[in-house]
Amino acid sequence: MKQSSKAWSPPGDKSITHRALILASLSEGKLELLNPLISKDTQATIEALQALGVEIKIDEKKITVFGKGLRGLKAPQKIIDCKNSGTTLRLLTGVLAAQNFPSELTGDASLKMRPMQELVDALVSLGAQVECSPHGTAPIRIGALSSRAQRGISLVSPSAQFKSALQLYALCMQNHFEILSSSKTRDHTEKLLSFFGNPPKARDLKVVGDFSSAAFMIALQVLNPGIRFKIENVGLNPTRIGFLDVLQKMGVKFQTQSETKKEFANEPSGSIEIQNVTLKGTEISGELIPRSIDEFPLIALIATQAKGKTSVKDAAWLKTKETNRIQTICESLKLCGAQIHATPDGFEVDGPTPLQGASVSSYQDHRIGMMLCIANTMSLGQIKIDDLECVDVSFPDFLKLIKSSSDLIGGSFETHVS
Ligand code: S3P
Repeated sequence: MKQSSKAWSPPGDKSITHRALILASLSEGKLELLNPLISKDTQATIEALQALGVEIKIDEKKITVFGKGLRGLKAPQKIIDCKNSGTTLRLLTGVLAAQNFPSELTGDASLKMRPMQELVDALVSLGAQVECSPHGTAPIRIGALSSRAQRGISLVSPSAQFKSALQLYALCMQNHFEILSSSKTRDHTEKLLSFFGNPPKARDLKVVGDFSSAAFMIALQVLNPGIRFKIENVGLNPTRIGFLDVLQKMGVKFQTQSETKKEFANEPSGSIEIQNVTLKGTEISGELIPRSIDEFPLIALIATQAKGKTSVKDAAWLKTKETNRIQTICESLKLCGAQIHATPDGFEVDGPTPLQGASVSSYQDHRIGMMLCIANTMSLGQIKIDDLECVDVSFPDFLKLIKSSSDLIGGSFETHVS
């Protein structure tokens, strides 16, 4: 990657890849998924679907799925390990709750701490047999389907994963019920359901570039005036791009160009070019939170370089991510000299503060690790980051990419992958 005239396309969208794999498996017939994200998280979904009897072939740039139809999944021979992937665990809970065989889902230590109770309760009230641990977490035990109830569900948690699990449950049950959600969360399942139809028919599709991966390359440019390149083929779904609204509030000028590309299965796409940056603090709350939920590590980092106070409110859901992100964002940036503190539902940052060299850890949270790598491109001293192998969860090429960008600005970049 070089400056200005160069362009870069992010890897395929993680949320869409998970959903497309699941809906492809529930379709009748063979389909090709182009530009999928192949990472640790999506690998967890692929392996889970294979354990349910779906044939899936992975090539470098495409995945071929031989769909089984809505009633074609087979009972798994063992417990399904969703590893670190919340999307795999939540969405498959919805699918498996509607099958006529029992199953069990689990994951790594981080996944086993993430909330499942509200989803389990919703599925039980819809007639499914689902249980979680006494802490309201995985492992999830699912019994063969017992009854069918037709009721509405109200979701309190601002979770696209819970909503999608219920939508997939409804699809598999061929049932209709209303889902009332407390917030407007990402709508990729809605878009894919209308693309595949009901019952879903096998149709090839291309996965648009992941805005949340692109966000790291946007932050890299916002914080390093010497690096400029265009980001192309990136998803511009309004339910995902709250980060752009936040940047605008903070004084970043950029240009987005939307395209209409049918191949992306109803998902808006386009390009983004950063133009001018004068950072100031702002307040971020309300509907902006779910639309930028994965970008708060970057928002905090950018806020350290903004003039004045940035405060994030209404964001307690950040505590339920791969780590408690309110805590891990604040702890890691504080070690680099930032003036940041946690609040009960977010954090506050005072800036601008030059970041110092430090020894930090990703806490094995991919988005924290990648945020710290971006911090290292503009800190006064070197930020040494441990446990960076977790970037493979969502963005396997990230370290290569960031290394070439930091060579460009003459920075030193050392990673510690054990
Ligand atoms: C996702 C939804 C969000 C997001 C996660 C992916 C999805 O999680 O943080 O990275 O694919 O639906 P929640 O639904 O828990 O907010």
